[in-house]
Amino acid sequence: MAKPHMCPPALLEKDLSGQTFVVTGANSGIGFITARQLASQGATVVMGCRRPEDGEARAQEIRDGHTGATLEVVALDLGDLASVRACAESVLKSHDALTGLINNAGVMNTPEGKTSDGFETQIGVNHLGHVLLTELLLPALKKGHPARVVNVSSCFHDQAMGRDGVIDLDDLFFETRDYDGWAAYAQSKLANLLHAKALAKSLEGTGVTAVSVHPGWVRTNLARHSMPLWVQNYIMRPILGLMGMVEPWVGAQTSLYAALADDVPEHAGAYYSQLGVYRDKSCNRGGWPMKSPNPAAHDEATADALYDKSRALVGLA
Ligand SMILES: NC(=O)c1ccc[n+]([C@@H]2O[C@H](COP(=O)([O-])OP(=O)(O)OC[C@H]3O[C@@H](n4cnc5c(N)ncnc54)[C@H](OP(=O)(O)O)[C@@H]3O)[C@@H](O)[C@H]2O)c1
Repeated sequence: MAKPHMCPPALLEKDLSGQTFVVTGANSGIGFITARQLASQGATVVMGCRRPEDGEARAQEIRDGHTGATLEVVALDLGDLASVRACAESVLKSHDALTGLINNAGVMNTPEGKTSDGFETQIGVNHLGHVLLTELLLPALKKGHPARVVNVSSCFHDQAMGRDGVIDLDDLFFETRDYDGWAAYAQSKLANLLHAKALAKSLEGTGVTAVSVHPGWVRTNLARHSMPLWVQNYIMRPILGLMGMVEPWVGAQTSLYAALADDVPEHAGAYYSQLGVYRDKSCNRGGWPMKSPNPAAHDEATADALYDKSRALVGLA
């Protein structure tokens, strides 16, 4: 089996004092490890958490292990635009300059449902909530340049359990097609990738670089709607490990590379992938960056149209 991509050790020792990163979904899985690593390198980390009490407990865990680590927890429900606005307001009140925004939070293969604002759950939480958060934090990212926006996408933007990743601009919310949890996840993760692409174009010359990443197949809580977590974490754990499932430390490497490596601005809008599962097996080794085998990931017209439509849906047109 191919070896996962790992950050060069020097990157994870870089002094990040004076820098501030916002990480969404930082109380769990890949987001927690990303936040912990950035804080351990001296950055101030703002943890955007749907359950702030859990975020506070996890922040304390980081402080206990890393004396002097600076973490702030802000309530953030990406399925509620009012909460996203309140989160951004709170961040901007304490930080007028940001070094990075890691749009990491996400849900996968959820039962059919809607966010508070009437969006299909997965495109609403994974994409639209992050579009609003990003737009509201852009002034601070521009002020903090050089800065990064890292969208945590997935190799499932290509195909998720046999469903091709496509964006249906006329039916983003599965109102005229039958709902399918995997098709909705694939659409939302393709949206993460296309958002980074369109954003990168719009940010040319500002010193803010946007990219997207696939973190690998990682043992986190993400699978909770697909299998009981105790099956993943206990019964199946050895088999899943042999099949390539990695621990969150490995899963955070691609986000950390995209957030910290010096050469990333040379690849604005690009897609960085850990080992993955793609329709073209030659892509399974991933790459920092790599070209997605999904033709829809290279459709600039759709990327631009989705960006415009998303801004309008979240009230920013
Ligand atoms: N694990 C994998 O194999 C894998 C593969 C490819 C891509 N990814 C991507 O990696 C990212 C991180 O996921 P993970 O694997 O670390 O899973 P995870 O452990 O389930 O973490 C997901 C995080 O997102 C948060 N979240 C969920 N709904 C939210 C909402 N409405 N508002 C704000 N935050 C919300 C969760 O908060 P709660 O704890 O409160 O639920 C949690 O902090 C996701 O974007 C996922 O699509 C993961």
